[in-house]
Amino acid sequence: MLRELSRRATRSGSQGKRPIYPNASEDREGRSTTVRIVVGAQFGDEAKGKITDYLAAGARYVVRTGGGPNAGHSIHLPEGSLVLHQLACGVLRHGVVGVSGPGMVIQPMKLEAEMQDLERRGLLRGQVVLSDRAHVLLPVHEIEDAWEDDLRAKVNPGAGLGTTRQGIGPAYADRSGRFGIRLGDLAHRARLRESLELLYATKTHLSNLPSLDGLAAELAEVGSRLAPLIRPTEPMLWEAIARRETILLEGAQSALLDVDFGMYPYVTSSHPTSAGALVGSGIPPTEVDEVIGVAKAYSTRVGAGPFPTEDSGERGEYLRRVGGERGATTGRPRRCGWLDLVLLRYAARLNGFTSFAITKVDVLGGLEEIPVCTQYVLADGSTVRDVLPSQADDLVHAQPVYEYLPGWPMFHQRLKDRIKSEGAMALPLTLRRFFDRILEETRVPVQYVGYGAERDETVALPPPFEHARRPALTPWTG
Ligand code: IMP
Repeated sequence: MLRELSRRATRSGSQGKRPIYPNASEDREGRSTTVRIVVGAQFGDEAKGKITDYLAAGARYVVRTGGGPNAGHSIHLPEGSLVLHQLACGVLRHGVVGVSGPGMVIQPMKLEAEMQDLERRGLLRGQVVLSDRAHVLLPVHEIEDAWEDDLRAKVNPGAGLGTTRQGIGPAYADRSGRFGIRLGDLAHRARLRESLELLYATKTHLSNLPSLDGLAAELAEVGSRLAPLIRPTEPMLWEAIARRETILLEGAQSALLDVDFGMYPYVTSSHPTSAGALVGSGIPPTEVDEVIGVAKAYSTRVGAGPFPTEDSGERGEYLRRVGGERGATTGRPRRCGWLDLVLLRYAARLNGFTSFAITKVDVLGGLEEIPVCTQYVLADGSTVRDVLPSQADDLVHAQPVYEYLPGWPMFHQRLKDRIKSEGAMALPLTLRRFFDRILEETRVPVQYVGYGAERDETVALPPPFEHARRPALTPWTG
């Protein structure tokens, strides 16, 4: 491989300083997109799974770049519905490789069960590949996650984060603390045992841990079954880029849950941003063609933390009921509210979105008017439009300022059929006005629209989309 690459680099020597890998930005003309990132623009649960599944139809690789069993990507196929937690949604399509990437923390027993379930239902159609660098999330981490969240609430009632209790925070903490075990370690029994002993020595504050001997044996067994799927994934992706194959990086969770840029501490423990997708896959930023931010036409949040546009009244209940807003992993009812353009602007700048996919527009169908929040007024009277305060507490009492846009009709089957046959031009005019408002406020155009749960209920807006390539980080005047 290296020899082939250096031969190619020499061949192109006459053109000056050419990168070894064909760079996406060199020849966009006439070539299909190579690397696309799909990330959440709100608090998670924006139907990223549905959009990634839609785009996976034209991809060769789909790579999950972060998180672990806390994610729940729901997909509705003609054969039935399913929720993917640790597998990339590419595994549902023939000819696609679904990679669980290096940025993930993977619970191997749960991963195996997820694969078995898909296989039993005849839905495991793509190839599964697991990164040898992904960290192993253990039952110890699940116990520690619950212990930590209980501790927070005990020391300061009301300070619990409401994590998914899947062990995410402790698994990433052990990764950073260099106590972690990686998927690639499962094949080395003696070393695995030593690593487990060290890890257990850091957990003396926990009780009811599974026996070390039992866990070591279980991990070695599951490791040997998964071994054929575990491999270095970054060289595989680099070679795919060199062949100009399409790669989709599938983010889990979302921008506002980012451990640094979200509403800390009410965040997850990874980087669910476009930058995180690169770290979590090993793909360099210079190879990325598109960054698609997925947002619902309204907002939801699970777990604790500020939610400026939350509607805890009847209308919020309406969104929960019509939108079926319950956590795909935990089953918890989601908190519901209105579209927050302050957060979308922030997410657009943070991620460099080239376009949005707006989902669940059908849920708002039939409402006379649609509230969208354009700024907040904080307790001290200051306003917030673009830059979120770094202190989550400042947002707890933020007053949203709403603009009311005209609503659009219900998405009855007849309208859905028209969209399927005529494309996006059949979308209601008032809905297109809603998209224009998103563009005006965020400088990011809407490119994809989800108008129902089913796989075929997504439509792409027609070009011109070249303005979508304009970076979101132009000077900000608003
Ligand atoms: P953790 O990721 O389980 O540590 O949870 C931290 C916070 O992120 C909690 O508020 C969770 O509800 C939220 N969270 C984690 N994963 C998801 C997700 O996939 N969708 C929505 N919220 C999530």
